[in-house]
Amino acid sequence: MRIKNLTEYNKEKEKFKISPEKFWAEKADTFTWHKKWDEILNWDFHKANINWFSGGKLNITENCLDRHLSSIGDQTAIKWIANDPNEKNIDITYIELHQKVCQFSNVLKSKGIKKGDRICLYMPMVPELAVAVLACARIGAIHSVVFAGFSAKSLSDRINDASCKALITADGGFRGSKITPLKEIANEALANSPSIDFCIVLKRTNSKIEMVKNRDFWWDEEIKKSSTNCPAESMDAEDKLFILYTSGSTGKPKGIVHSTAGYMIYAQYSFENVFQYNEGDIYWCTADIGWITGHSYIIYGPLLSGATTVMFEGVPTYPDAGRFWEIVEKNNINIFYTAPTAIRSLEAMGNDYVRKYNLNSLKVLGTVGEPINEDAWNWYFKEIGGNTAPIVDTWWQTETGGIMISNLAGINKAKATFATLPLPGIEACVVDENGEEMKKNNIEGKLCIKFPWPSIARTIYGDHQRFINTYFSAFPGKYFSGDGCYKNKDGLFRITGRVDDVLIVSGHNLGTAEIESAIDEHENVCESAIVGYPHQIKGNGVFAYVICHHKPKDEKTINTEINNLITRHVGPIAKVDKFLYVEGLPKTRSGKIMRRILRKIASKEYSNLGDTSTLLDPNVVENIILESKK
Ligand code: WTA
Repeated sequence: MRIKNLTEYNKEKEKFKISPEKFWAEKADTFTWHKKWDEILNWDFHKANINWFSGGKLNITENCLDRHLSSIGDQTAIKWIANDPNEKNIDITYIELHQKVCQFSNVLKSKGIKKGDRICLYMPMVPELAVAVLACARIGAIHSVVFAGFSAKSLSDRINDASCKALITADGGFRGSKITPLKEIANEALANSPSIDFCIVLKRTNSKIEMVKNRDFWWDEEIKKSSTNCPAESMDAEDKLFILYTSGSTGKPKGIVHSTAGYMIYAQYSFENVFQYNEGDIYWCTADIGWITGHSYIIYGPLLSGATTVMFEGVPTYPDAGRFWEIVEKNNINIFYTAPTAIRSLEAMGNDYVRKYNLNSLKVLGTVGEPINEDAWNWYFKEIGGNTAPIVDTWWQTETGGIMISNLAGINKAKATFATLPLPGIEACVVDENGEEMKKNNIEGKLCIKFPWPSIARTIYGDHQRFINTYFSAFPGKYFSGDGCYKNKDGLFRITGRVDDVLIVSGHNLGTAEIESAIDEHENVCESAIVGYPHQIKGNGVFAYVICHHKPKDEKTINTEINNLITRHVGPIAKVDKFLYVEGLPKTRSGKIMRRILRKIASKEYSNLGDTSTLLDPNVVENIILESKK
C-alpha cells in the first residue's frame, strides 16, 4: 500500500478528494478485524464528536503482533540498546514479543484488570515498557504512560485524573551517568493516589527500594506464574486505546484520549509513507515512549508495519557525544528520527564525534517536536545524511496521533525549515484572525485542519467541554492546532511556533500556568509569568518574571529554591533558565498578562512592543525594560 512515487502520491491525493471515506476504508481493509465496520465516518466538529469505523471490532495487538507471526515471527521486533555501552543489547523477535505481551496481559488479568480500566505506566526506556503498553491494549485496558522525568506530584495528578487502578514502574532507571529513583518517586505519588489497587515493579537498577506489602509486586515473580497464551479482547473501533497527558495553555494537563481503529490505521499509514519504510529496514526513533512520538513511532507504527524498531535507554551524550552515531554504525540504522534540540546540541559538540563513524546505512532522516532552524537542518543533511539522505520535517501533535504535515522521504522534495505539505488524506489550512481560510500562497496565519482524519484525538479524559473549547471553538467547524504557520509562494507550510501559552522547550510541551503555579508556591513570591526566549540548543529557554513580597536578598538562592519547587511540582525539564525580579507585570484591564510584551523583552527586543494601549499601567513595561537592561 505504500506510496512509491510522485505519480502515486498525486493519485492518492486525487482519490481522497473524490471520496475521503473510500480512501480511508481502503487503508482500513488491510488490517485484521474481528468484524468489519457498519459506518466509515460520522463527525461533527462543532460538538467534537468523531467516529471512525463504528461497529468494527478488532484488537490492535493482533495487528502489531499475531498477524506477523507466520511471516516474520523470527525477525527482530524490538532491538533494545542499553544506556551503558558495555551492557548487552537485547533483540526480541515478533514471536518472543507476542509471548511476553501475553504473559504480562495475564498478570494484569490475574490482578483483576478488566477492559476499560486505566493503568498508569511510569517506566524507563526498557523493553518491558513496550510490553506493558501492548499488554494493556491486548486486554482492553487503557494505558496512560507518564514520562519518567516527571515529579511525584505530576505522576499522582495524572493517576488521579484518570482514576488509574494500577501502576507499572521500576526500581529505577538509567539515564546517562544518573539513576532516576522511579520507585521512590512512585511511592511518594501513591501516598496521594487512592485509586491504585496494586503496583508492579520491574527490577532494573537494583536500587534499594521500599516495597509495600500486598500492594507492590515484582514483575519477574508475577511473570513466572503466567502463561504465554492470552486471547486478545475484542474491542470496538471507537473504544479508548490510551490517554496521554499534554500541557495546556491554562490549568492542569489535558488527558488526550485516542481510540483504537482510527489511531491504528493512521499510525501505520503515516509511518510507512513518511519514512518510506521498506521490509528489512532498521528503524530508530530516539524519542521517549513517555511522549506521543514514542507511542506512534517507536511502538505502534513500526510494529504494525512489521519493522525492526530500535529502543534506546540512554541519552545522546553518554558516554560521549558520539553515542547516537556509534549506535547507527553498529546497528546499520536505515531510518533515523530525532528532535531538533538533539541535532543542535550534537552539532555544538563538533564534527569529530560524527566523523569517527560510518553512517552510510542511513537512508532517511526525520525531525519532530519543534521548528528546526536552517543551520541545524543543513548540518543534519550534510554531516549525518552525507548530502543524500532526505530529511522529513514532520509536524504533528499529541492530539493528532500521527504525522500530519511532512514530505514523504525521497518522494516530494524537502525544503529546510518547511514541513512542506499535508499528507494525502489531511486537509490542513491557514486561517486569519477571523477564521477565514487564507487560500492564497505567501501568507501567514494560524494552522487548522478542516476535515477529520482517523487518528484525531476523541476527547480530553473526563472533560469533553474542555476538548471543544480548546480545539474546536476558536474557529468553529475547524480543528485549531494552536500553531502559527507561514505558507510560502509555492504553498509549502512552515510552522512558526505556538500562538498560545504553551512553551516548547527542547521539544517538550510545557504549560506556562503549571510552571507559574509551582513558582508561586515559594513563600516570597506573589506572582510570576513565564515566557520563552530564543535558546541556541533548546529552541526556547524558560524565562521567568517574578514579583516578590520582599526584594530577595540573594537572587542565586531564591533562583535555586524556585527551580527546586519546579522540579518537585512539574519536573526538571521545566526549570527556569533566566529570572528577572520585577515590581509589576503588564496586564490588560481585564487582568490578563500580556505575554507578547514579556516575550519581546525576554528576547531583548525593546522597540516595537506593539499595541500597549489596552494596558492597565503602561509604566510597568518601562520598569521591566529598565530592570532587564541592568
Ligand atoms: C510543535 C509532538 C515545528 C508544534 C509530535 C506542535 C513542531 C507541538 C513540529 C506538539 C515540527 C511538532 N515543526 N513545530 N516539525 N513538530 N511541533 O504534542 O508546536 O509533544 O503544536 O507532539 O510541537 O507537541 P507534542
